Order: sequence, then structure tokens, then C-alpha cells
Amino acid sequence: MALKAVVMGSAVAALARMAAAAQPGAAKPVPAPMRDLVWGRLNVLHTTDTHGWHGGHLQESQYSADWGDYVSFAEHMHRSADKRGVDLLLVDTGDRVEGNGLYDASSPKGKYYYDIYREQHVDIICTGNHELYIASTADREHQHTVPNFKENYVASNLDYIDPKSGERMPMAQRYRKFQTKNQKLDIVAFGFLFDFTGNANNTIVQPVRDTVREPWFQSAIREETDVFVVIGHVGVQMPEFKAVFRAIRKQNPLTPILFFGGHVHIRDATAYDSRSFAVASGRYFETIGWMSVDGELERTAVSEESGFSFHRRYIDNNLLGLHYHTGLDATTFPTEHGRNVSAMITKARAAVDLDYAFGCAPKTLWMSRSPYPGGSSIYSWLEEEVLPDVAVNPHRKDVPRLVIVNTGAIRFDIFKGAFTRDTTYIVSPFLSVLVYIPDVPYRTARKVIKLLNNAGKIMESAPMDNRFMAIPEQLVIHESIIHEDAASDMQVDGNHQKPLGDSAGTRPRLTDGYTTRDDIGNDGDDTVHTPVNFYVVPNCIQAEIDLPSDGEPDTVDLVFMDFITPWVLMALRLLGGEYSEKDVELYVEGTFTELMAGWIEKNWPRHC
Ligand SMILES: *[C@@H]1O[C@H](CO)[C@@H](O)[C@H](O)[C@H]1NC(C)=O
Ligand SMILES: *[C@@H]1O[C@H](CO)[C@@H](O)[C@H](O)[C@H]1NC(C)=O
Repeated sequence: MALKAVVMGSAVAALARMAAAAQPGAAKPVPAPMRDLVWGRLNVLHTTDTHGWHGGHLQESQYSADWGDYVSFAEHMHRSADKRGVDLLLVDTGDRVEGNGLYDASSPKGKYYYDIYREQHVDIICTGNHELYIASTADREHQHTVPNFKENYVASNLDYIDPKSGERMPMAQRYRKFQTKNQKLDIVAFGFLFDFTGNANNTIVQPVRDTVREPWFQSAIREETDVFVVIGHVGVQMPEFKAVFRAIRKQNPLTPILFFGGHVHIRDATAYDSRSFAVASGRYFETIGWMSVDGELERTAVSEESGFSFHRRYIDNNLLGLHYHTGLDATTFPTEHGRNVSAMITKARAAVDLDYAFGCAPKTLWMSRSPYPGGSSIYSWLEEEVLPDVAVNPHRKDVPRLVIVNTGAIRFDIFKGAFTRDTTYIVSPFLSVLVYIPDVPYRTARKVIKLLNNAGKIMESAPMDNRFMAIPEQLVIHESIIHEDAASDMQVDGNHQKPLGDSAGTRPRLTDGYTTRDDIGNDGDDTVHTPVNFYVVPNCIQAEIDLPSDGEPDTVDLVFMDFITPWVLMALRLLGGEYSEKDVELYVEGTFTELMAGWIEKNWPRHC
């Protein structure tokens, strides 16, 4: 695939400023060298794990397009498909909620989000685990998104319990059979969720290995079809997708099968065999995935000899890139419908006051782009500045304490500039609070952090993987590191990502971003970037507060995030300390997020 430079002069950049798309105040899009999309006969655009970021990334220029821009993009791409006589589908694989003020800040949550999201025409859509943690979230998904998408919503292994009647029913239809618009290709589509067990009690997730044995599934895979499309809130390397693949393939040796996955928040692609291809499209609406398949797709034409060609692209959600792929510019790109959706988002953001600034971040603080401990680490900032100030219980303020926070409590970087209400939900969307066990012998308490930061499980028999306390991106990256020598200096290129080609020469300046290497190769990203560093962070960090400067205290208060209580109790038990849930009390009023926002309001300048 030849690299094509988009040379964008300042005239174009100025145009982009005049023709407002994206959200007002969003960072201006940046030009970069691009790789083209490869069209086939069947083409798919894919979003996953958007987590409420439908307003785009206001502080990151390369992801600052919003859901309205995606509506415009899809409209142009549909037109292009019609012209070529091929077909285009849109799919979404769940975790649309939790993680951004656009969803989280309203009461009830999602007051504006459901209406904004539905404006995009999505052909196949399914549920993620974040739609199911809280019973009311699952209720709203069933009340809003399922009817909004009617026959397009597929729930192959998910049931819902009606709160009034107590009746158990499929969350949505089990599968979908339809014909494409232009070529009348028959498609049979499924929508799965991985074997999730943390859901509230108003939904039931059936393990995928059981679903594929169900009579309805066995009959669905015997339907006459040209292509199977399996979408799922499932990582493409996870066993659940492989089980679905084996079941379909056993019955259909020649039919192409397209998989669309998510959950692990990375760009990834793989082939299960030469006729089956899988792609995962990142997180937080940074990425719009693209997959195309070409060849004799009609089942009547397919034989042992016929082959298919697949392509995948990870499209940066960058307005200039969307212009590039559609051959349009800032004036011709936004459609009336797209502009309307951008306006809905602007209105919703204003209604919940997402731009209210708690303070101005004096510098960027990274989760994993700079080393911990270090001056640019968000975790060092928490440990050294925030926690000593906010982890104070008025009745126990003279008691020395160890305060343990799991790194997974932080979900995103803090960028230099305004720290807004929106930022609080982005950086720490959880309702976690600080709890404590009083007067733990120091000799025991001080060893807890070491056990929590062990790789693997605290105890082989315990079903608690320590890594669930850390950031989800590391779940995948961790594995790749363990097999690399780079582990010794604790630094790897993110998601086994390496620089692409040589960055010398006369190309436009490269921006930092995804440089993905997947099972297919290293040409997946639509934009050529310089790689972003990825430094491993521990599962948990610890602030030592008011410890005597000489000698050791006899006892300390052991303070920690309520989320990690099971791990802390297990660690104490292993160290010979018998404590239970009954010993755990609230340490300080307010969620961790509120404490952090309060600290910022007090300590950072109000305005930038
Ligand atoms: C779910 O749990 C809640 C609270 O424990 C309980 O009131 C409710 O009846 C349970 N619902 C079902 C369907 O089991
Ligand atoms: C956009 O919004 C205007 C004003 O509300 C409305 O008249 C128009 O029908 C909308 N257009 C589309 C395509 O949604």
C-alpha cells in the first residue's frame, strides 16, 4: 500500500476553522500522511467502546471529530458505495456508555446520549459489559437503545429480566438475517458478549460455548447465506470468538465470516482462517474501524478454489482524515443531518455544563506515556500531591496512614489546559470511595502493596486476577511484554507497536499516535504516526502519609479504594492479618473523583 501524503496548506486549516464541525472549542484537526481505504464488495465501518465520547476529544486534535461528523462521513461513504455498486454496513460492538460527561453527567445518566447516538444508522449493534454493571443502565439500554435500533439490535447470548413482570426474555433478537442494499447479498449476523459475570441481576449472560450448542444457533448457521457477520463485545484473540468461529466453520466450510470485536480497547486484527477475518477498533471514539472483503461472495459462485481478499484500516477520528477519505473539504463535508447532530451534542454539553472549569492543569499528566514514578506521571501526582491532601479523616488525622489506589481507577490522561466537569468523568468515571481498616500493625500493612503488585493472582486458588486492578489496556499489552526483553527496562512500544518506515525525509511532520502492528501487518493505521511510548504501571500505587520521620509506627490506618477491598483482605490474610468486610469503614466523605476535583479547584489556577 503506497503512502500518500496529504499536503494541507494553511489555507485548508483556516477553512477548517471557519466551517465549524466538531464541537466548539475542540482542538483543531491536524494534517498527516495518510493511507487510503481499500474498497471491496462488502465494506464495514466499525465503532466500539465509545464510552460516551460522542462529542469527540476536545483536547486532542487527531480525535476531535464528533458523532455528527461520523453521521456526515457515513452519509458520504454510503453515496460512494452506491456509486461503486457495492455495499456498506455500520456496526457497533458495545460499551457505548460510562466514561464521559456526555453520558455520565446528566440525571438520569444518558438523558441526552440515547437521542444523540440513535441519529447514526447502525446496521448491527450489540451490548457491552458497561451497559450491564448497574441494573438501571441495563434497563435504559432495553428501554431506549433496543427499540431505537429495532431489528438491528442483536443479543445472541444475553437475556433481560423485565422489572415489572419478572419475565426473562432475550435482550433483543438472537440473530439477524438481511439482504444488502445494492448487491442483495444475504447476511446472517450474530451479536455476542464475552462470558461476563459482573452484571447486575436483571440480565443473564449465557457462556458463549453454551450458546453455540443452542438449537436456535445451530439452525441459524444452517440458513442459506452469502456471508456471516459476527459482532461482539469480545477481544478478537479471546476464546469466545474462536468458539463461534469453529461452530460456524464446521457447518460452512467455504462461507466468508467477518468478525468485529472490542472490549480490550486496542486496535487489533487477525485471521482465523483464509476466509475469516476479525478486527477490533480501539476505544473512546478515537478510531473508526474499516473492513472490506472482495471476491465472488455469492454462495452459488463459491467453490474450494475461490478466495477472498480482506482489508482493514484504523481510521483516526480526525476531521481532516474524514475529509481526505471522502475527497471533500471543510465546506462540502458536513451534511445537514451531521450538523444537526453536532448541534444536539453542543446543546447537551451545555445543559450539563461540561465546560465548567475546576482549574487549569499546569502541565500534561500521563497514565502510561511517561514513566512512573516521574514528574509527568498522573500516578506520581496523585501519590505526592493529591492524596496527602485529600485522604484525611477529621477524627483520625493524627494517625499515620498508607493510602492505596488502584491504577485502573484512572481512565485517561490529564491534558495541560482547562480541567473541566467533562474531564472529571473522563479521568475517573467511577463512584469509588476511600475506605479503611483502622490500626493495622505497620509490619503487616506495609507489605500489602507488594502483594497487590505481584503479577498474576494473589493466590493461585483465588479467582481474582491482580491485573483487574490496573488499566484495561495493560491486560493485553502486559502479555506482549512478558515475552519481550523490553520488560527489563519496563518500557515497550504501546500495543506491540513499532515505528512505521523511516520518518526522515520530506514528509509532513508526524504526530504522535497509534502505530499498530497486528497479525496482518503494520499497515493498518490510516494515519502515519510516530509511536507513543508505553510504560507499564503497577496495579496499585501507595501514598505514605504522616509516617514518623524516624523509626516505624506500631500501627497505621490502611486506606484504600473500595473497589479493591477483596484483594486487600486477601493480601492481609496471606500476611497473617485476619480482617473481614466488617472491619472496613468509610474513610472520607465523597467519591474519589469529587476529592480530586476539589483538590484541583483549591490548588490549580482557576483560569488558563
Ligand atoms: C435483584 O437484586 C435486588 C436487590 O438485591 C432485589 O431487590 C431484586 O428482587 C433482584 N432481582 C431479581 C430479578 O432477582
Ligand atoms: C435538521 O434540523 C432542522 C432544524 O431543526 C430540521 O428542519 C431538519 O429537518 C433537520 N435535518 C435533518 C436531515 O435531520
